[in-house]
Amino acid sequence: MILLFGASGYIGQAFQKAMRQRRLPFTPLSRDQLDYTRFDVLLQCLREFRPDLTINAAGYTGKPNVDGCESARAETLAANTLLPQTIAHACVVAGIPWGHVSSGCIYSGAKVMLNGEWKVEPDLTQPHLRRLPDENPDAIQGFTERDEPNFSFRRPPCSFYSGTKALAEEAIAGVGRGYLWRLRIPFDEFDNARNYLSKMQRYARVYDNVNSISHRGDFAHACLDLWERRAPFGTYNVTNPGYVTTRQVVAVIQRVLKPDRRFEFWADDEEFYRFAARTPRSNCVLDVSKLLAAGVKSRPVDEAIEDSLRIWIPEKNPEPTP
Ligand SMILES: NC(=O)c1ccc[n+]([C@@H]2O[C@H](COP(=O)([O-])OP(=O)(O)OC[C@H]3O[C@@H](n4cnc5c(N)ncnc54)[C@H](OP(=O)(O)O)[C@@H]3O)[C@@H](O)[C@H]2O)c1
Repeated sequence: MILLFGASGYIGQAFQKAMRQRRLPFTPLSRDQLDYTRFDVLLQCLREFRPDLTINAAGYTGKPNVDGCESARAETLAANTLLPQTIAHACVVAGIPWGHVSSGCIYSGAKVMLNGEWKVEPDLTQPHLRRLPDENPDAIQGFTERDEPNFSFRRPPCSFYSGTKALAEEAIAGVGRGYLWRLRIPFDEFDNARNYLSKMQRYARVYDNVNSISHRGDFAHACLDLWERRAPFGTYNVTNPGYVTTRQVVAVIQRVLKPDRRFEFWADDEEFYRFAARTPRSNCVLDVSKLLAAGVKSRPVDEAIEDSLRIWIPEKNPEPTP
């Protein structure tokens, strides 16, 4: 049996659905039912339930977006750093493996081939790099799990949210038998305020950048695949292979959904941060070779986006609550 923390959340719901599809027995837990943020309560629960695995899909992502974490710092730190540490250590004491939903937002940019050399470029919106994704996509490579985060409290500037996610990784990597699964910018076919493809359609103006992103269902299944295949414990980037620019995503939305609107883009970072954002955003490319080498199959990102839009379910038919 798998014990799922944060089951009521956007990602927790995806895990519920994936486990149901796979007929994996699981118990969803919510703080309403049990205060799993307390070590003593949690340890007792683990000893009672004796799960084969715990999954931590709990966390604080900010309302209405990551800027919200700047004014809820205690909540952000408690949910994103202290809680994962509590869960990992309680699991060690109880002898139970754990999986934690981390984030790729602890990186900024990508590795870029320029003048015959690979170099980390933290900002792919610089004028000399803008056209690279379209003109020479292979000249951009993602960060691997071996690369140190470059968007964290140790490598500022970063958002408070990203800082707490990086700190959690640092605190729990190597503690007992655990997986750190890095998710990025979830999307799928269910129109929802949390879905990246919905956000693109709802923003008055769109911020163009380059990112690796995760189909929500593919993410949950990939994490469960790692567990079921008994892949070595450790950190895994779990995005759909490849990367996309926001302009490419908007082009697919226009082609497939044919919305009755024009899309406008912020002119540059300066304008975006002056009018639309308070804290720095992570935009980054991740390498998923380790995930694929573990035998996990995943659709390329452009295919996952196209598939989602082709079966798009508008919000008036919301996804059934699991
Ligand atoms: N959504 C994204 O864009 C994204 C991207 C990358 C990574 N992640 C990570 O994925 C995990 C889940 O995110 P999500 O988008 O599913 O978040 P969400 O929809 O806000 O759900 C998070 C759940 O965490 C639980 N929780 C426990 N302690 C909490 C606290 N102090 N404050 C608020 N909630 C708390 C709540 O469940 P109960 O009250 O039922 O226990 C809540 O439903 C987080 O670790 C997040 O950092 C998310």
